[in-house]
Amino acid sequence: MTEKPVINFGLEGIYVDESAISKVDGQNGKLWYRGYTIEDLAANSDFEEVSYLLLYGKLPNKTEFEEFNRKLKDRREVPKEVLEVIRQMARTSHPMDVMRTAASMLAMYDKDLNNKDREATIDKVITLISKLSSIAAATGRFREGRDYIPPDKTLGHSANFLYMLTGKKPSKTEEKLIDLMFILHAEHSTNASTFSVLVTASTLADIYAATTTGIGTLKGPLHGGADEAALKMMQAIGHPDNTEKYIEDALEGKQRIMGFGHRVYKVYDPRAKIVRKYLEDQMNNNPTEEVKKLLQIALRAEKLMIEKLGKNKGIWPNIDFFSGPLYRSLGIEGEMFTPIFVASRMSGWGSHVVEYWNNNKLFRPLEFYNGPLDVPYVPLNKR
Ligand SMILES: CC(C)(COP(=O)(O)OP(=O)(O)OC[C@H]1O[C@@H](n2cnc3c(N)ncnc32)[C@H](O)[C@@H]1OP(=O)(O)O)[C@@H](O)C(=O)NCCC(=O)NCCS
Repeated sequence: MTEKPVINFGLEGIYVDESAISKVDGQNGKLWYRGYTIEDLAANSDFEEVSYLLLYGKLPNKTEFEEFNRKLKDRREVPKEVLEVIRQMARTSHPMDVMRTAASMLAMYDKDLNNKDREATIDKVITLISKLSSIAAATGRFREGRDYIPPDKTLGHSANFLYMLTGKKPSKTEEKLIDLMFILHAEHSTNASTFSVLVTASTLADIYAATTTGIGTLKGPLHGGADEAALKMMQAIGHPDNTEKYIEDALEGKQRIMGFGHRVYKVYDPRAKIVRKYLEDQMNNNPTEEVKKLLQIALRAEKLMIEKLGKNKGIWPNIDFFSGPLYRSLGIEGEMFTPIFVASRMSGWGSHVVEYWNNNKLFRPLEFYNGPLDVPYVPLNKR
């Protein structure tokens, strides 16, 4: 019998790659994209610039930025066959299933599908960043039986997304809020979905295959799906005065509180801090009764969770916890949260693929076999 090796379940604590794209400091609650702090980027940059930074490793100059923006704007349209599939699926399927299918379909329009040169890959990623936002917006429209709204080139990337989803041109504040969410979700090192994107890319499958894998992985409630699940919990709590009892009962029943805990952050997620601050500012901006109630529930849940699990177990709010009230303040429904995560994270996924293909190595970990060997075969009629 072979001796059982040390197994790091869930690859916890295992380095699988090296990267210059982002750094997550889980002990001190810090995050950098290409060396820039997330706080600095959230306050001063926009999603287009952040995407350029992630992909190319530097901030663009004016000409580079204009060229990059032009490509993003020119590619926003969703091909009509894809729109038709979105329309058919959107009424009955979860938007993440629609996104996954539509992303996969985009491969059929790429005449140079298997070109993996750096520039060709970056170009495909730009197409995906551009189109996944429109696909998410179209999915949201069709879900509610509404018409597709074509993109508007006068609007920036995130503002255009909100316009295509809601049909209303966003105010400056709304534009800042949606862009902030795009920036904060753009990249986060080798988490489950980025890792799965890289596993697919490492087989030298195409970027659309890798993206489709990433969307499938992001869907789960332990990863990207936690934002929708956290909102559902707040809605189930219903009234701020029910918060403490709901959380205590859930913990008593060994349930997980969505939007809390993280494999790497053992302190407050810096992205959650930023969302929380913007949300608090929104409270002075005449929010709807719904948003007011959600934020009160969120703040009471946060306080109790930190008392119970924060300091002693290192379980703190993550970005998904406060996202719900913020998205609701923009009129976005819960099922659309994770598709927005996809549309933003495409920048990070794509940047990782570009970097990984520089020095590709097939992912093939080991598994310790713990079953029997040499079992005698018994024919069907003798069993
Ligand atoms: C993200 C997550 C999967 C990371 O967990 P992990 O590093 O794999 O840690 P584990 O799942 O082993 O959990 C460790 C302990 O903390 C507890 N725990 C972790 N997250 C918890 C949560 N959100 N609520 C309650 N308890 C939690 C576990 O029950 C476990 O307790 P135990 O030691 O008594 O069994 C986990 O924190 C979680 O499920 N969070 C909720 C989903 C979420 O918000 N995901 C988005 C992440 S950005």
